[in-house]
Amino acid sequence: MTLDEKAHQPLAELIAAGDSVDSLYSALKDAFEGERTAVSSADDLKALRDRWMGRKNGLIAAANDAWLKAAPRELKPQVGKRQNEIRQAIEAALEQAQNDVAALGRKREALDVTLPGPERRLGAKHPVRRTLEEILSIFRELGYSVAEGPEIESFFYNFEALNFPADHPAVDEMDTLFVEDKMLLRTHTSPNQIRIMEKTPPPMRYVVHGKVYRNDAPDATHSPMFQQLEVFCVDENITLADLKGTLEHFVRRFFGRGIKTRLRPSFFPFTEPSAELDITCVFCAGRGCRICKQTGFIELLGCGMIDPNVLRSAGLDPEKYQGFAAGFGLDRIAMNKYDINDISLLYNGDTRFLRQFR
Ligand code: DAH
Repeated sequence: MTLDEKAHQPLAELIAAGDSVDSLYSALKDAFEGERTAVSSADDLKALRDRWMGRKNGLIAAANDAWLKAAPRELKPQVGKRQNEIRQAIEAALEQAQNDVAALGRKREALDVTLPGPERRLGAKHPVRRTLEEILSIFRELGYSVAEGPEIESFFYNFEALNFPADHPAVDEMDTLFVEDKMLLRTHTSPNQIRIMEKTPPPMRYVVHGKVYRNDAPDATHSPMFQQLEVFCVDENITLADLKGTLEHFVRRFFGRGIKTRLRPSFFPFTEPSAELDITCVFCAGRGCRICKQTGFIELLGCGMIDPNVLRSAGLDPEKYQGFAAGFGLDRIAMNKYDINDISLLYNGDTRFLRQFR
C-alpha cells in the first residue's frame, strides 16, 4: 500500500496490518521532507502545498479524518499530538520554502531583466585634437576660415615659393624627408600660405592645420611627425599692429587674461620683419622656473609680416596687399596646457594615457 493510500485508510486497520502511530507519522514526515527539497519555483511550491495542506484532498486532512477522528479512544491523545506536530512542522516548512522561492525570484530578475549591459568604453578626444579645436574656435570667431593641405609637398611650395634662397641650407636645417626628387614630406604648414593665396582673392584670413615631418631623432621634445598650425591674413593696409593685436587676443583667450606677451626679433625667410612671440611662463606664472630658464617667459610661436617676395610668388601685388603670418606647434601647446612632459605620449597610442582625456 502506498503512503497516499494509507492516509485514507482507517487507523485501526493499519495497526492491525502491522503499522504503528509512530511509524505512520514518521513515514509522512519523511515523504514531505523529500518532496520539499525538490521545490525550486513558485509553481512547485503551490503543488506541494495543495498536496499536503489542501483542505479537502490534502494528505494532512486525510490523516486527520482516517487516523485521528477514527482512532480508537485509547490512541486518541497520542495520534492527536502527532497530527498537530506534523501539521505545524509542514506549515513552518512551507513558509520557509515560500521565502526561499521569493528570494530566488528576485535574484533571477536582477540577473536577467533589469541589469544594464556591460559598459562599453567610449573613445577619448586626443589632447592635440582638443587643443586644435579650441584654437580653431577662437580664430573662427575672428572670421578666419579653416583649411588643410597636402602632407606630400613639392620642393617649390615647401621652400622656393616661401623665399628660401636657392643656396639656403634649409633642406638640411629642417631635416627634410624626401619622397622622391623634388617631392618631400612637408616640414611645416607654411606652404599652404602659397597654395591658398594662389586661389583666393584678398581679403583672406586662414588657419591651416596638419601634420608635418622632420628627420629628427625622437626624444621627450622631438617627434619625426608633429602638428602645426599656420595663421595668416592678407588684405590692404595690414600692419604689424594687426599681427600683434590678433596674437594677443588669441593668447589671452587661450591661456587666460593674466598672460603677458612679448615680440622678439627673429628671422624667417618668408616674413619681414620676423619675430618670435613669447608668453608669460605658464608653469611658474612668470616668476621664473627651470622650464623658462628663470626668464619668466616661454617661446610660443614664430610670426611676421609676409615677405613681399612670398606675396609675389603667389601672384599678389605687394604694393597693394600686405599680410601677416604666424606658425606654431600644436603639440607643444597641448603639452603646456595639459602638463605633459614627453611628446611620445601623444603618439604612441597608449590607451592608459589617452583615457584620461575623456
Ligand atoms: N614655418 C615655421 C616653422 O615651421 C613657423 C613659422 C614661423 C610660420 C613664422 C609662420 C611664420 O607663418 O610667420 O618653423
